[in-house]
Amino acid sequence: MRDFIRLLFMVLLAFLIIPACVKEGPPGLNGLDGADGTDGADGADGADGVAFCISCHNNETVETFEAEWIASNHGSGWTLSRFGGWDRCAPCHSGVGFIASLAGGEDLSGSPIRCASCHTHGESPVFQDEDGNPVFMRTKEAVALMVDPTRIIDLESNANLCVNCHQPRTAAPADIDQFDDDVLIDPAGDGMYTITSEHYGPHHSPQSALLEGWGGYEFAGSLAYPGTKAHPHRTSTDCVECHMDGKNHLFTVPAISACTSCHPNATNYDLGGKVTTVQALMEELATMLEEEGILHDGHVVTGTYPFGVTAAYYNYAIVVEDQSKGVHNPVYVEALLTNTIEALQ
Ligand code: HEC
Ligand code: HEC
Ligand code: HEC
Ligand code: HEC
Ligand code: HEC
Ligand code: HEC
Repeated sequence: MRDFIRLLFMVLLAFLIIPACVKEGPPGLNGLDGADGTDGADGADGADGVAFCISCHNNETVETFEAEWIASNHGSGWTLSRFGGWDRCAPCHSGVGFIASLAGGEDLSGSPIRCASCHTHGESPVFQDEDGNPVFMRTKEAVALMVDPTRIIDLESNANLCVNCHQPRTAAPADIDQFDDDVLIDPAGDGMYTITSEHYGPHHSPQSALLEGWGGYEFAGSLAYPGTKAHPHRTSTDCVECHMDGKNHLFTVPAISACTSCHPNATNYDLGGKVTTVQALMEELATMLEEEGILHDGHVVTGTYPFGVTAAYYNYAIVVEDQSKGVHNPVYVEALLTNTIEALQ
């Protein structure tokens, strides 16, 4: 055993010494490459970009919406070609005018209110927001009303888009001397108001204000005003859910199916007889305004009237122009009309 260990030691020593004495020659050729290793496992699949885009950009979706839209007043309403080139009208009566006005500019070339007026992906190639959702609506920002920019309507949904255009253009008269764009003036400061325009009133578009519970001249009276942002039609649903139920692009009066989630037995709009009540109050108010001489055949009569009569006419006009017959905010509208009638009496 010892001899074996000694021998082993000698051999080891010889291996260490011999190479040290031999002069190093040129390096040999590289050996052959080894065989390739096996492939790694596939990574997780990324989202299919094209399928995502095609979920909307397919003939069926686009053609359906296009057919609905073209027949609507956004697609072919007569005011678009008529007023789309007028500077004070283009922001609402023209698709390109609307886009320009959102950016603080002006475009008077006129166009329908078309797909790209309401939809965009932002500047290409940005198609998604930071949460990965498609950037889809032209705007969903809260809207400062043109009649009072301190009053901001924020429906916290895509319905803010609608508020931009469906808002009043002239404010209710205030009980102070008022000079307002050649429409309603009290130059003498005596509480008498002169209506100079045959178009006096809130324009045809005060829907968002009434939904909010604001916008009329609030005479004191027997019914309490509910305050703003009070009605469930404002807080639990919105323009898009009622008017575009199922995402239809008809832009007309709502389908009853948009009501039945909350009013399961609804077969028409006149729930609780409220539309009938509002219509009756409107007829009563119209008769009184005719007697005051400020209303004739559904139109305002220009002239000079006591403040209260002017404000009463404005309240009548805002409910007519809203066109929902009180549905947008039944509680506010009933209080407004009841208290106005009491004030005229
Ligand atoms: C939620 C539906 C939807 C999805 C998802 C979608 N788009 Fe769109 N896209 C629209 C609508 C609506 C328009 C505006 C209609 C028009 O002008 O044709 C539009 C417009 C466009 C335009 C015209 C440029 C513009 O901004 O007006 C391009 C290009 C476009 N989309 C590409 C894409 C691509 C690429 C994807 C996928 C990454 C995509 N879209 C995903 C609905 C969608
Ligand atoms: C007046 C504004 C307006 C116009 C014009 C308009 N849209 Fe829309 N569109 C909307 C709103 C609002 C929604 C609903 C968004 C939501 O779900 O809240 C919508 C939804 C959609 C959707 C998504 C539907 C879904 O199932 O989620 C598509 C796709 C679309 N629009 C395509 C179009 C096309 C194509 C056109 C032109 C033919 C068009 N839109 C014109 C306002 C508009
Ligand atoms: C760019 C401004 C603009 C936007 C945004 C807009 N509208 Fe309109 N809307 C109009 C104009 C202007 C008309 C009337 C056009 C005409 O008759 O010539 C109209 C008409 C309508 C009508 C038909 C009224 C009638 O008497 O037949 C409905 C309903 C309507 N809009 C609902 C909506 C809803 C809901 C939205 C939001 C999804 C919306 N609009 C967004 C400007 C707009
Ligand atoms: C703040 C947005 C806005 C501005 C600004 C605006 N309009 Fe309108 N206008 C509307 C909306 C929204 C409607 C549609 C209301 C509806 O049909 O329910 C409308 C409806 C009308 C109608 C009635 C259409 C009908 O068939 O009954 C006329 C007329 C009209 N506007 C003229 C004008 C003129 C003229 C100007 C410029 C001096 C103007 N508008 C400025 C939003 C606006
Ligand atoms: C609770 C559901 C509901 C909500 C929310 C709602 N609407 Fe309406 N709206 C109606 C009903 C119902 C009518 C029609 C009443 C009738 O014709 O008797 C109507 C009528 C209208 C009309 C007149 C349509 C026509 O052809 O006569 C316009 C314009 C309109 N709404 C716009 C809006 C806008 C803009 C918003 C959001 C600011 C809105 N609506 C929110 C239910 C709703
Ligand atoms: C998100 C739920 C919701 C939807 C959707 C809705 N409503 Fe309402 N609505 C209510 C609630 C809640 C009340 C009761 C509010 C109150 O009296 O304080 C109400 C009250 C009413 C009233 C007054 C009834 C009365 O007895 O005073 C009418 C009219 C009305 N809704 C019509 C409609 C119509 C028409 C639609 C569809 C276009 C609709 N609503 C969609 C929740 C909803």
